[in-house]
Amino acid sequence: MANRDTSSTADLQIDVGRLVARLDELGQIGRIDGPNGEWGNARLALTDEDRAGRDLVVAWMRDLGLTVTIDAIGNVVATRLGTRPDLAPVMSGSHIDTVGTGGRFDGNLGVLAALEVAETLEQYGVETERSFQVAFFTDEEGARFAPDMLGSLVHVGGMPLEEALDTIAVDDGARLGDELSRIGYAGPVPCPTTSVPHAFVELHIEQGPILETEGFTIGVVEGVQGISWTEIVIVGQSAHAGTTPMRLRHDPSYCAGAIATFVRDLTRRIRHDQVGTVGRIELYPNLVNVVPARAVLVVDMRNTDDRALSEAEALLAEFLDDLAASEGVDITKRSLARFEPVDFDPALVDRVEATAHRLGYSTRRMPSGAGHDAQMLARICPTAMVFTPSVNGLSHNIAEFTETSDLEAGANVLLQVIMERLDSGDD
Ligand code: GLV
Ligand code: MN
Ligand code: MN
Repeated sequence: MANRDTSSTADLQIDVGRLVARLDELGQIGRIDGPNGEWGNARLALTDEDRAGRDLVVAWMRDLGLTVTIDAIGNVVATRLGTRPDLAPVMSGSHIDTVGTGGRFDGNLGVLAALEVAETLEQYGVETERSFQVAFFTDEEGARFAPDMLGSLVHVGGMPLEEALDTIAVDDGARLGDELSRIGYAGPVPCPTTSVPHAFVELHIEQGPILETEGFTIGVVEGVQGISWTEIVIVGQSAHAGTTPMRLRHDPSYCAGAIATFVRDLTRRIRHDQVGTVGRIELYPNLVNVVPARAVLVVDMRNTDDRALSEAEALLAEFLDDLAASEGVDITKRSLARFEPVDFDPALVDRVEATAHRLGYSTRRMPSGAGHDAQMLARICPTAMVFTPSVNGLSHNIAEFTETSDLEAGANVLLQVIMERLDSGDD
């Protein structure tokens, strides 16, 4: 590694002021303010806000002299050339879409920290053998178009492009491919990618309480738990709320409530810290004095153990059959997402840990509870993640926050791990 500066690259540090300024500026796009000074973002995938966020990040990438490419599912990759472009590049990044009531760090930190790594290399004139790539992937959240991590899934060949483009939004019925073209991000680079990275490293906030409550600065992520999303549609009989005897009802709202209760109870019966959530319930026609005709809900279940997760899915299916029979309703289900637990590359995980220790940070090994683009990249190249603490463990909440000192620690670990991989020769 060549460096114009006389100090060693092992001491190089990111500029956290610059990183926070970019996080704040990107956060202004689709900003949501809460009553107590907390603020976050609504930048659902492929909306006008997502387009504005993309335009801003792409402008920053170009300002740094990076070469920006866009693929057919809208993933954006910016490249800083190394001295040996014949070698596979090292990639870092995440996503800039958010859930409808999201924080300003989830995903955005991973993208802007990768950009900060590129700027630090640029600022100190660090020449690297391998090229460095900063990426952001389309629709990581899956909040508008399921499944989550859709862009990175298509990138690695886990979902055919046409199927992804035909995905229909859960909220407004838009077609993904139409929205991608509308916002000007249907790019020319084919999917799946033919450029396999030498390594992928993603910095992300933890989004849970473990690092903060146990007093650690850096989470060394060993893998991601399995994810199962099931959409359930219940069709009953719309009727008058006052006149219809209880014994004659076929009530989808009762069923939706029973399913939510069942999912909570199920988490106590399944091993390995099963989690289960019903985050979306819609009733039609949703009127106070009408027994609904229909309910649509989505069950999100996760577990680090795939067999335990499959067991939870089987018990849910059994419960739905019994419920349909006892309430006299029609229940159909379809899978919106099903990803097995993922293990990251043990050597790269060790490297993250050793780097954090060298920089003087306390570390804790942990699985990720949330899904990440890194779990898709892990299908094609050695992959690892770095976590920083989340204040009060909050995420997918506009009060999501990470202290500046923790952002700095995480981004410095990212910088050092990436620099080492950029000069790792042919190994
Ligand atoms: C997506 O990021 C999820 O974990 O739901
Ligand atoms: Mn995220
Ligand atoms: Mn998220």
